[in-house]
Amino acid sequence: MLDKQMNERLNAQIQAELYSAYLYLAMAAWCDEESWTGSAHWFRKQAQEEVNHAMKFYHYIVEKGGRAIMEAIDKPPSEWKNLLSVFEAAYEHETKVTKRIHDLLAFAREIKDYATEQMLQWFVAEQVEEEAQTLEIVQKLKKVGESNSGMLYLDGKLGKRE
Ligand code: FEO
Repeated sequence: MLDKQMNERLNAQIQAELYSAYLYLAMAAWCDEESWTGSAHWFRKQAQEEVNHAMKFYHYIVEKGGRAIMEAIDKPPSEWKNLLSVFEAAYEHETKVTKRIHDLLAFAREIKDYATEQMLQWFVAEQVEEEAQTLEIVQKLKKVGESNSGMLYLDGKLGKRE
């Protein structure tokens, strides 16, 4: 059985993961419009990953005999100043997601829900990766600065994400 409050918090996390997917899709659309096609590909892949994260929570709730409820998803922003600001916003978003996961884990410990705690450990590790990969792109974009050839090269590399 899943604790009622934990069930509600996990439902909120499904919503948060799907918001992440929606946000990254909005970023992909902005990149496509600005002809950053490699970055657009990278964000579409990231959006898919976020749907996978949401599904992990969904399946866990169902497996534990809980009830997965789909809450409304907010409208994400659609305008950014430049490519760097898009990736900075993505990085900042990931740090917020990390905090959410840590708060969930702290709550699982508080109520001695060891099964949920173990499930969340996967997300703790995943967030280290998610933050690192986004921050690396931010740092590289800062290095290339206003150089068009540098930005195009980096965009091409991002387009190779599998
Ligand atoms: Fe589902 Fe990017 O964290």
